Amino acid sequence: MNDSRRSLPLLRTPGHGGRSPMTCLYRCGNACDHPVPNQSANPYFGDLVNAAAPVSDAAVSRRGLIRAGAVGALVLGFGGAAAPARAGTPAPTAPGAGPARGAAPRGGRPAGALSFKPIPPNTLDTVIVPNGYDHCVVVRWGEPILPGAAQLDVRNQTGERQSRQFGYNNDFLAVLPLDKRGRSALLVANHEYTNEELMFPGFTGHDALTVDQVRAAMAAHGMSVVELERVDDTGQWVVVRKGPRRYNRRITTLATRFALTGPVAGSTWVRTAADPRGRTVIGTLNNCAGGVTPWGTVLSGEENFNQYFVGGDAVPAELKPKFERYGITTKARYPSGSRKWERADERFDLAKHPNEAHRFGWIVEVDPYEPDSRPRKHTALGRFKHEGANVIVAKSGHVVAYMGDDERFDYLYKFVSDKKMMKGDSAAARRHNLTLLESGTLYVAKLGFTSAGEIDGSGRLPSDGAFNGTGRWIKLVSGDRSYVPGMTAVEVLTFTRLAGDAVGATKMDRPEDVEPNPVTGKIYVALTNNSNRGVGSNAPADEANPRNANKHGQIVELTEDGGDHTAESFSWSLPIVCGDPADPATYFAGYDKSRVSPISCPDNVAFDSSGNLWISTDGNALGSNDGLFATAVEGPERGHLKQFLTVPPGAETCGPFITADDRSVFVAVQHPGEVSGASIEKPASTWPDGDFAKPAVVCTWRLDGGHIGS
Ligand code: FEO
Ligand code: CA
Ligand code: CA
Repeated sequence: MNDSRRSLPLLRTPGHGGRSPMTCLYRCGNACDHPVPNQSANPYFGDLVNAAAPVSDAAVSRRGLIRAGAVGALVLGFGGAAAPARAGTPAPTAPGAGPARGAAPRGGRPAGALSFKPIPPNTLDTVIVPNGYDHCVVVRWGEPILPGAAQLDVRNQTGERQSRQFGYNNDFLAVLPLDKRGRSALLVANHEYTNEELMFPGFTGHDALTVDQVRAAMAAHGMSVVELERVDDTGQWVVVRKGPRRYNRRITTLATRFALTGPVAGSTWVRTAADPRGRTVIGTLNNCAGGVTPWGTVLSGEENFNQYFVGGDAVPAELKPKFERYGITTKARYPSGSRKWERADERFDLAKHPNEAHRFGWIVEVDPYEPDSRPRKHTALGRFKHEGANVIVAKSGHVVAYMGDDERFDYLYKFVSDKKMMKGDSAAARRHNLTLLESGTLYVAKLGFTSAGEIDGSGRLPSDGAFNGTGRWIKLVSGDRSYVPGMTAVEVLTFTRLAGDAVGATKMDRPEDVEPNPVTGKIYVALTNNSNRGVGSNAPADEANPRNANKHGQIVELTEDGGDHTAESFSWSLPIVCGDPADPATYFAGYDKSRVSPISCPDNVAFDSSGNLWISTDGNALGSNDGLFATAVEGPERGHLKQFLTVPPGAETCGPFITADDRSVFVAVQHPGEVSGASIEKPASTWPDGDFAKPAVVCTWRLDGGHIGS
């Protein structure tokens, strides 16, 4: 331990759920203290009559298994998410030309079995991994990543310095192959938000920051691309520190230009004084989760963009309901905790530039293999508080993006492309595939229930043995055609939440990651929590959101009808209702709860090559640090959830990414030490370097070189 490591005097003070009030303030602008933005009168259990018999888990599993072969073949046919990424690049396999997908691991266990010994809940100021594993810090906030970059110097940070350094609060991660031998890779990271109290010494308030410091915070938002190299033949990866590193890149809110694509590009809603054509946006905001496309680009979700704007009280009256639906306060000039960025750039003042807010809240696509390429914001995928987007190729060749709007009582969406994906990695295929997200059909989910009359908000399992039902994808817009009465296609895409309200979408408990299992094709949705479910006049519990004042969240498993990702109907169930397994209001697919790890507030999900589900958490309301968990989702081990890793106090675990060779798992440790009252001088965590807390990316690997988890 570093001698400079200080004592840790601050206690973790719970805010909403298990989150610190400081995280509530900086992460989402105290969203939970504001009225629920969704004040629509949607029915809380749909008018949708479930077809005939309830869908049993067994039936779902059987259908899933039949489909698994077809989906697997499709993924292989298109190269999967680790496909060759750009024309002219040597066709890489994956980071690490390790054992092939599904190969028998060492030790004679069934392929994909999760045999690691779970770690216990804890509050230690370090990263904990199971016996037999090791971990390292790959890169942390402020590390130089571009030529000529300075080292982090918290007393002298400026926009220019930070623009060449790794950003703050890493969230989504992707590790993409850069060579055929599995020796080099690109790390792509989101930088969701800043916490100035933990970034600038002597912080006394946002008004007291210099404009240089404000610009440093703006530059600490966005994304980073960093070249990595493997250490010997292990599962450990480190940053490349010498040589040209031509892929290294910073995308910032300060300076990076994004092209708008799709129906909203050029429309009146996105035209501003600085961009009268409505085609180019500077920066990206609050990038939370994301996904890797089968054509090798990265998608990133602009989430709580509302909190960066001031002056909502002075927007035209007819716009106010639209702003309020997106959580932008129209009752005061400054939202609580405002960073007051308009001091550095007046476009964040809605009194002067009301349309600037409409230029955020999109899914962005970045091509990390083309460091000079202009990233794009795809308006065809709708505008909301995008957690992220994950793409799968349907049997027809169309690509389907699954998405969540992370707010209490908001919705699940999917996008189906107009065009089909072109196979291979030719320049023509790549050019074509880069247009796939520019036009298509956007749907919102409406769920139906099998046991509606039995849901009392307690979380008690219904008598048919499952929280389950069927559901419909309701078409909102297709190309330029709106399916929402009273709204044009451009309005549906710009004010997608209002379109979801109008068609009676199902109000969910904060939909975060929504991700297809590449082995089975089933879709998994992390619903984090919802302190307001069933409270006051808010919608009460329903079968998909079965607990009032839901503190711990749940996982939805969604199976498209016919195994067709373009289908307009599906079945769903809850395989996991989170919490302390000793709590009767939890459910782990019927698995023996005495063998299950406690889990609270699922946020991001990922899959290993065997299709096991990995879940990271944000805001553990059970008193432990947040962590990473894994469970099988098929077979007798379905529901046997085990804790794999924990992160330091105040942090959430984000961006889990398991490399395609299954030999490394990366996690983003976001906002370590974010505990109210903490500062650089008085840190609540000194991870990772023993001085003050720094968000950082961690790589974990098995000491014997075997598969992670097995
Ligand atoms: Fe940025 Fe939905 O968490
Ligand atoms: Ca049921
Ligand atoms: Ca998240």
